[in-house]
Amino acid sequence: MTLLRTRGCLALILLSFIFHADPFVRPALAETENTAEAIIEKRKCRRCHTILGEGGAVGPDLSVVGTRRDAEFIKKKLLHPKSLQPQSPMPPFRGTESELETLVAYLSSLK
Ligand code: HEC
Repeated sequence: MTLLRTRGCLALILLSFIFHADPFVRPALAETENTAEAIIEKRKCRRCHTILGEGGAVGPDLSVVGTRRDAEFIKKKLLHPKSLQPQSPMPPFRGTESELETLVAYLSSLK
């Protein structure tokens, strides 16, 4: 009986931890996603790239770019597209350092 109660109690603690932890985690992720989407829109990345089902096909689909490329590669590609591919038609990223970081974090999370 005591054991059952203890188990129930533990389960409750665990559940409340999961549900309480969630609201702290989700807004942070959602914020990065929203900000990154706004930057993608502003910088017109979808003119050349499909991202999550939408966009062009001049460059590779970026929907799961995080499985192929790490943050370091993506950052370098955004800042100096021609350093990795001299014929690249991709323009170098123009924006603030914080926009760049958000974009890199978002793209490398796409898996
Ligand atoms: C004018 C077309 C064009 C635009 C605009 C463009 N890209 Fe690209 N991008 C390319 C092409 C083409 C490649 C692949 C060839 C190369 O390496 O340059 C590429 C490659 C990439 C890669 C490497 C993907 C991989 O799997 O290696 C990333 C990441 C990337 N682009 C992100 C972006 C982001 C983010 C934006 C918006 C800020 C953007 N691109 C805007 C044409 C474009």
